[in-house]
Amino acid sequence: MAIVPKHIKELAPYKPGKPASEILREFGLRKIIKLNSNENPGGPSPKAIDAARAALVNCHRYPDPAGYELKTKLCEKYDLERSNVVLGSGSEGIMSIIMRTFLAPDDEIIGARNSFIGFKVLANASGRRINWVPMDNYRYDLNALAGAINEYTKIIYLANPDNPTGSYFKRSEFETFIRQVPARVLVILDEAYFEFARSHADYPDSMMYRFDNVITLRTFSKAHGLAGFRVGYGFAHEELIGNLMKVRLPFEPALPSLAAAVAAMEDEQYLRRTLERNRVELERLEREFRGLGCRPLPSVTNFLTLVFDDGEKSRAFAEGLLQKGILVRHLAGFGWQDCVRITVGLAEDNTILLQAAEKVLQCL
Ligand SMILES: Cc1ncc(COP(=O)(O)O)c(C=O)c1O
Repeated sequence: MAIVPKHIKELAPYKPGKPASEILREFGLRKIIKLNSNENPGGPSPKAIDAARAALVNCHRYPDPAGYELKTKLCEKYDLERSNVVLGSGSEGIMSIIMRTFLAPDDEIIGARNSFIGFKVLANASGRRINWVPMDNYRYDLNALAGAINEYTKIIYLANPDNPTGSYFKRSEFETFIRQVPARVLVILDEAYFEFARSHADYPDSMMYRFDNVITLRTFSKAHGLAGFRVGYGFAHEELIGNLMKVRLPFEPALPSLAAAVAAMEDEQYLRRTLERNRVELERLEREFRGLGCRPLPSVTNFLTLVFDDGEKSRAFAEGLLQKGILVRHLAGFGWQDCVRITVGLAEDNTILLQAAEKVLQCL
């Protein structure tokens, strides 16, 4: 069709995994353990659900386009003005607004080659020239990223921590990097897993810096357990946010989603429990997988990536677990053929995972 631009025609459509009902039927299973999307396995905070339920009676009304209550809470927590905050349908929704707002026809994008696939899709759909810079030993190579900047560069995307490797770049690395970035270049600093990483002393919490050309993106989808509600937020200089506000859709996030996010922020006990469970279970999975002869990458997130000898073994491992009802993510789509990413589950599910993994590994 002539009306479809070449760069859209060439995009590969998103390939969803098999629905749970089909997997249950195909392999004669009773239960699925879902460890493939880095969600919070503990379910949402009951307080968030109550708040969303209470908000439903007003669902004949549009949501507050200013997101007043949620923005106020975020401002209190991070010592900001509302003019420094943008809300959106997940942090990916805000990435999409950023691309639509700031990219002019000749602008170019820089990103790490095998990092978060959601940004890759948005970048490819933008039709702009993109320089995908190789990673170094499963980590962001910030020197190489800085070296790739040219006169056309408009946006640099950094995920810290990274998905799918679980690695992070350190304060000193970020400080050296940002000194090399001209003020005309916008850095998207995606901190979707910030809550899990912030206890590491050398993790560069971007809110400590507040550079005028950096936008910090965070989300309620991971540690706060509200992925299905689609709430993300961005912090940046008011001029930057002001321009995003002109382009964003006025009624995102949805009304019950805003209510759930406000309540989730108040439920500090839920967050503490999530982080503690994740810390204990991540350590356990790392230790036990190593004991099974696997090579886990060091992770500061809620997932663990295992490196196999080759693509055949990694695929067979993921497929073997699938047949036992355990969904993990084979990372070919991210460009890591020989890797499998596993979300940290609940203790009892991790026990089932480890038992199943041992059996599958014996057959590889
Ligand atoms: C690095 C990274 N950024 C952003 C997202 C998307 O988050 P949201 O649900 O807020 O769109 C994810 C989700 O997997 C992620 O891994």
